[in-house]
Amino acid sequence: MKIISVVGARPQFIKLSALSQELRRKHKEIVLHTGQHYDYELSRVFFSELSIPRPHYNLGIGSAEHGEQTGRMLKGIEEVLLFERPDLVIVYGDTNSTLAGALAAVKQNIPVAHVEAGLRSFVRTMPEEINRVLTDHVSSLLFCPTPTSVKNLKKEGITQGVYLVGDVMYDSLKENLSVAEKKSKIMRKLNLNPKDFYLVTVHRAENTDKKDNLKKLCRILVSLDRKTVFPVHPRTKNKLSEFKLLARLLSLKHLLPIDPVSYLDMLVLEKNAGYILTDSGGVQKEAFFLETPCLTLREETEWVETLKGNYNGVVGLSLEKILARMRRLEKSGLKSKRGNKLEMRGAARRMAGVISSADGWLRGGVSEKTQSLDRRLRSW
Ligand code: UD1
Ligand code: UDP
Repeated sequence: MKIISVVGARPQFIKLSALSQELRRKHKEIVLHTGQHYDYELSRVFFSELSIPRPHYNLGIGSAEHGEQTGRMLKGIEEVLLFERPDLVIVYGDTNSTLAGALAAVKQNIPVAHVEAGLRSFVRTMPEEINRVLTDHVSSLLFCPTPTSVKNLKKEGITQGVYLVGDVMYDSLKENLSVAEKKSKIMRKLNLNPKDFYLVTVHRAENTDKKDNLKKLCRILVSLDRKTVFPVHPRTKNKLSEFKLLARLLSLKHLLPIDPVSYLDMLVLEKNAGYILTDSGGVQKEAFFLETPCLTLREETEWVETLKGNYNGVVGLSLEKILARMRRLEKSGLKSKRGNKLEMRGAARRMAGVISSADGWLRGGVSEKTQSLDRRLRSW
């Protein structure tokens, strides 16, 4: 089969790396980078570090408001699809690149496979939630990481083409952790001792784009009682600067604001951190896999499996909740997490297997799938 993988943002390169290896054994895979992320630290570093094939296309779309960014992607992706005529388009996660890839493909009657289907925060003001819901409703193959995501789809009337395959980021982590521990020099470079520092990442629009919320984040950063490594996403850096909050943070002795780090460095930081404070979906999961306690700086999480036991706590931007949870954890320690469904290896292999066996069905035309799509939309 000829397959186009559409990616554009940091976590998608990591998800792509595991699946791409499997796909390339049997199929011709073309990587299309929308250019949503373009800084070296958010894009190219992952391609060189994770040996993902260089994108065959980079649309260079860059940053813009949602409509403009997604619209420009749609046009660019469609041109590539018309030229390449692939049998399948694969999209990853929940960014604007995901939605644009899915929409461009179904409009050209090309079936779509969605990696990380069925995730829901149930918050429709979150741009990612809109991207997830719409992408799932036009996909023919829905690769779910967890039983909860399968249930979420069922509630929306989506049952055809749904596969519980496990989490592709677990594959990536398992494959790269030992390499990271050998290669990464980040602990020495930042002069860190294992379990004696905190790691913070923040980039969600709801935390960065409102001054009041960003101020609450700063209050948390100011109050932390240990060395704190803070790889700053460019969105966050821009907003801290715009709201005149950056200078105060730069003056803090215990805070190390740094550029975003490579995946291998990130894995090492996550493994060695005493606590991780984050609003990232991927980082929450990696904290769970690595058994580092996580405090999620959001009001909800779509990765509910990480809440079982006491590995992850949803604390919003409340310093009080953070301190209370840290105190509780100091006393109780981490619980056993045996049998947690999030830790299921082989997602990439399973997805590649489903894609190979669906070959005939996918090539059979979209009319059958369009009918099932109609049914899904009616029941939604
Ligand atoms: C995007 C995704 C989010 C995902 C995150 C992963 C959407 C709506 N959001 O958020 O779901 O979790 O990627 O990191 O798709 N910028 C740069 N350099 C870059 C990229 C961005 O400076 O290489 C700055 C620009 O000022 C831009 C801002 O960051 O306006 C936001 O970038 P954007 O891609 O729109 O959203 P993210 O916050 O990165
Ligand atoms: N990540 C990274 N360097 C960083 C921050 C994050 O390599 O400085 C990795 C992290 O290990 C995880 C992924 O990026 O695999 C998460 O991406 P992000 O937080 O940007 O997006 P989300 O998962 O929230 O969509």
